[in-house]
Amino acid sequence: NPWGLLSSVSLLLLLIFFVDATITVWRRGDRRRALLIGGSMILGAILAWHVPLVIWGIIDIPFFLSFAYSGIVVAMGYELSSDITRAAQLARKLKASQAALRKSEQDMEVAALEAARQRQELTHLARVTSLGELSSSLAHELTHPLTAILSNAQAAQRFLANDDVDLNELREILNDIVAEDQRAGEVIHRLRSLLKKGEPQKHCDDVDVNEVARDVLKLMRNDLINQNVTVDTDLAQNLPAIRADRVQLQQVVLNLLLNACDAMSASDSSERQLLITSKLENGAVRMSVTDRGGGIPEEKLEQVFERFFTTKKEGMGLGLSICRSIINEHEGKIWATKNADCGATFHFSLPINHVRNEAVITE
Ligand SMILES: Nc1ncnc2c1ncn2[C@@H]1O[C@H](COP(=O)(O)OP(=O)(O)OP(=O)(O)O)[C@@H](O)[C@H]1O
Ligand SMILES: [Mg+2]
Repeated sequence: NPWGLLSSVSLLLLLIFFVDATITVWRRGDRRRALLIGGSMILGAILAWHVPLVIWGIIDIPFFLSFAYSGIVVAMGYELSSDITRAAQLARKLKASQAALRKSEQDMEVAALEAARQRQELTHLARVTSLGELSSSLAHELTHPLTAILSNAQAAQRFLANDDVDLNELREILNDIVAEDQRAGEVIHRLRSLLKKGEPQKHCDDVDVNEVARDVLKLMRNDLINQNVTVDTDLAQNLPAIRADRVQLQQVVLNLLLNACDAMSASDSSERQLLITSKLENGAVRMSVTDRGGGIPEEKLEQVFERFFTTKKEGMGLGLSICRSIINEHEGKIWATKNADCGATFHFSLPINHVRNEAVITE
């Protein structure tokens, strides 16, 4: 009978499926489920052999049929309800862990804000400390115009004491007084902006890096003279402006120049030469500060940017790590190289995000 054969084959396939499922589940470590599937398989097999026993007249009625089915149904019902209970427990756990995740995300945001605030404080503190190193320059920058104003004013008083007042001379004296006053005002303005606390990325401006270098050189002028350091500049003309925090860039250049001067402090005074260059390179403005100091060994070229790395007695080891975080905040790069003859060169490059006046720039 072909139908009988078909039913036997399907029975055999079902048996194979059950055996395979039992072995897989057992291997996965779910013993209870494996026993349930295996048990159902045994019951199924008994059922299959049960029918011929009735046909052959060995037993009267297929009483086992109802017991077996009831057993399978009860076992499956039990499994289903325990699955539903487990699913509910898992859903509760998932909800709780989602809430915990949300809370830890909020905590992380608060921690990130706090870290940014502390970084800002540290940057400001380091800036104020570096300005402390420029005290001689700053004192000179302020006393010089004040002295000039005083002597001009005294000269004017002397002129006015005479009956015959030369108005042209007096006008010149007053012009000098105004110019010197403006000079002192500019120094105070530059100082004020460096001493002021700023929030990161809040003071973005169109900045000309050449102007930044010139401003810092003005602040350092007297210290450079006192230390016999000569400065050469090779600044590219028509550099595009970059969107940046001017004060933070001044801090970077100031740190690099202070380090370069420190590195050359032991050199012969004829060797104390600094070179500042700027150029446009691959869509970025690049500034380099070259000194003729002791230089940096190849293996330390990266290490110098680590926080608290210093070889100086009085150093904090913060200058370069702050430079790197400022440049990183501006999506730029900062790195150091060894010069072929002597000394080190520090470079930073900043991408041009925004071009002022849309000037056509040639590299
Ligand atoms: N131009 C340079 N030539 C040689 N070594 C340098 C130069 N610039 C930096 N270094 C080395 O890198 C170290 C780290 O410099 P960084 O400016 O971070 O800290 P610092 O100058 O030691 O202290 P401060 O926090 O006061 O700046 C310096 O101590 C020095 O050893
Ligand atoms: Mg330093």
